[in-house]
Amino acid sequence: MVQLRLPPNSTIKKGKHFKSKIKDSSKVRNFYIYRYDPENDENPRFDHFEIDTSIYGKMVLDILIAIKDDIDPSLTFRRSCREGVCGSCSMNINGVNTLACTSHTDDYEGDIKIYPLPHMKVVKDLVPDMNNFYAQYESIQPWIKKKSASETTQENLQSIQDREKLDGLYECILCACCSTSCPSYWWNEEKYLGPATLLQAYRWLADSRDEATGERLDQLDDSFKLYRCHTIMNCTKSCPKGLNPAKAIANIKKMLVKREGV
Ligand code: SF4
Ligand code: SF4
Ligand code: FES
Repeated sequence: MVQLRLPPNSTIKKGKHFKSKIKDSSKVRNFYIYRYDPENDENPRFDHFEIDTSIYGKMVLDILIAIKDDIDPSLTFRRSCREGVCGSCSMNINGVNTLACTSHTDDYEGDIKIYPLPHMKVVKDLVPDMNNFYAQYESIQPWIKKKSASETTQENLQSIQDREKLDGLYECILCACCSTSCPSYWWNEEKYLGPATLLQAYRWLADSRDEATGERLDQLDDSFKLYRCHTIMNCTKSCPKGLNPAKAIANIKKMLVKREGV
């Protein structure tokens, strides 16, 4: 049987224990949070925070903000909108990639364990390195392309029916929950574009105003960029916006098949 061992410096150690002010002990929840500081040589650790949710709020992001404000200002995470629309606060909560700002503590039984998004390099604590993810997004040229430059200076009208073809695509907030739950992306993140970028690629292929369909398909017709998707469907299961990246990927493949006349 294959034996997998982590290098010693990546083993997660037991961390520190903190306790918030307590007003109602029946509302105390235990949060275990992954901590990693690149500026010291220590292994990552798992800190334990006992938090009274009657004081600090019920959403996971509120708890993280409270910990940073009142208990440990060095705790590092991304957040912006607090409304599930910016995609910044994506992390892994009790084994599921999701948004901290839309995750309610009552939806979790027992301890709440928080890690950064999986299989990404960690910059610090809950902040993953998104450089490769954004470079891949940029590579699909996510903007309208017209044949004539003058056509970009005037309004591009679209019928209601054509606009509806973008439903389920334009709502993507690039949180990366899908890509970082995709086994194919874990093993080939340098070459495989992953479900988030491919859903975005399809968003431009599906846009009636765009005139670069052939060029876009040429760019995607690659055994690694697109065809590493094996329809495992983790991506669709994990999307906090209820989108279906696996279907978008299947639609790209269908467009390529149709173009080849197979
Ligand atoms: S369907 Fe494709 S993109 Fe989605 S998790 Fe599976 S392999 Fe990854
Ligand atoms: S498809 Fe869903 S999970 Fe993936 S990046 Fe977009 S919003 Fe996030
Ligand atoms: S803070 Fe914007 S999506 Fe959570």
